[in-house]
Amino acid sequence: MSDPIPTPNFIGMLLECQQDALDAIADGEKSAERLRIELLGAKSELSKLTKQIRFVPAVDRAQAGTVVNQVKQTILQALAARGTTQAPKTTLSFDPTMPGIEPPEGHLHIVTQAIEEITRIFERISFIRVRHPEVDWDWYAFGALNMPENHPARDEWETFFIQNEKLKVKSEMFSRIVLTPHTSNGQVREMEKKTLPIRMINIAKCYRRQIDVSHTPMFHQFEGLYIDRHVSISHLKGVLDYFAKQFFGPQRKTRIRPFHFQFTEPSFEVDVTCGVCNGRGCKLCKEGWLELGGAGMVHPNVLKNGNVSAGYNGFAFGWGVERCFMMKAGTQLDDIRLLYSNDVRFLEQF
Ligand code: FA5
Repeated sequence: MSDPIPTPNFIGMLLECQQDALDAIADGEKSAERLRIELLGAKSELSKLTKQIRFVPAVDRAQAGTVVNQVKQTILQALAARGTTQAPKTTLSFDPTMPGIEPPEGHLHIVTQAIEEITRIFERISFIRVRHPEVDWDWYAFGALNMPENHPARDEWETFFIQNEKLKVKSEMFSRIVLTPHTSNGQVREMEKKTLPIRMINIAKCYRRQIDVSHTPMFHQFEGLYIDRHVSISHLKGVLDYFAKQFFGPQRKTRIRPFHFQFTEPSFEVDVTCGVCNGRGCKLCKEGWLELGGAGMVHPNVLKNGNVSAGYNGFAFGWGVERCFMMKAGTQLDDIRLLYSNDVRFLEQF
């Protein structure tokens, strides 16, 4: 049992404790958190004094308790003010010169990368990238391209039609809307701009009701259109060879085979030498060639539908972006659907 503490002494000790605490806070040597523990924690001077309150005469204990609370509040306020106005002088707990942890970095999707590369290749020979609707009138996708209503050639495009009861039919030509099944809808739209000569590269999304290892319902095509005076098949062949060498590599060659499209005459299928066997023939290509897409000299009916002035003619070609990407040497992709599977483990490899 300790001796009783006279009330004035006890209050004196409290005020001394308060002054020491305020000095320590003002000193700034220690962090606010450390000071809070030292000045108000279980082992603090104030805590010890609080326990001694029972030795103060009973009549003064309430008053002594009030002073204890006032001291505590004063220390708390000083600590709070220190926290916002004054940084501790102690050394920093981290080294700002250390290299940070970098967040994972993404990249453009490989189809977008291919589109950018194709655009750059054609821009170097003055083809200008243009955009035309990806949801368009049936007229631009078929009618204007020499495929009249009910023509069997339309079947090959396995088209998605848009149903819209509110659509106001302006004329027979503009009565139905499709998700564009190819980028050839851009041909007559480009001619309608009435700026000759034309060197367009139209890259866009296309849609067909197809899905298997080499088909996706949504894919991309790039459509070249060159309209000028005296354009010949040699010009077309020159552009095909240029693209193949730039995109696939200097060893690659192209060939054209007779084919049929309603909107070109003559029409061709374009092949490029296989990147695996370099044209000698292997398991992938069989005879050394891989199919790239279609091409041909623009049909006179298409030029007429686009109101192209007499004396002008041209060529067009349309190929799949995804298929071209898959044919790049070293890609070794055996299922086109992987491109759209959104699997980061796959996409990170490119
Ligand atoms: C056409 O679409 C013609 N418009 C191309 C053309 C343009 C010919 C200008 C002449 C003049 P085709 O249906 O063959 O042609 O398609 C061209 C390319 O698109 C194909 O070689 C292929 O690379 C790509 N393609 C077609 N359908 C799909 C599909 N469902 N998924 C992925 N790629 C496809």
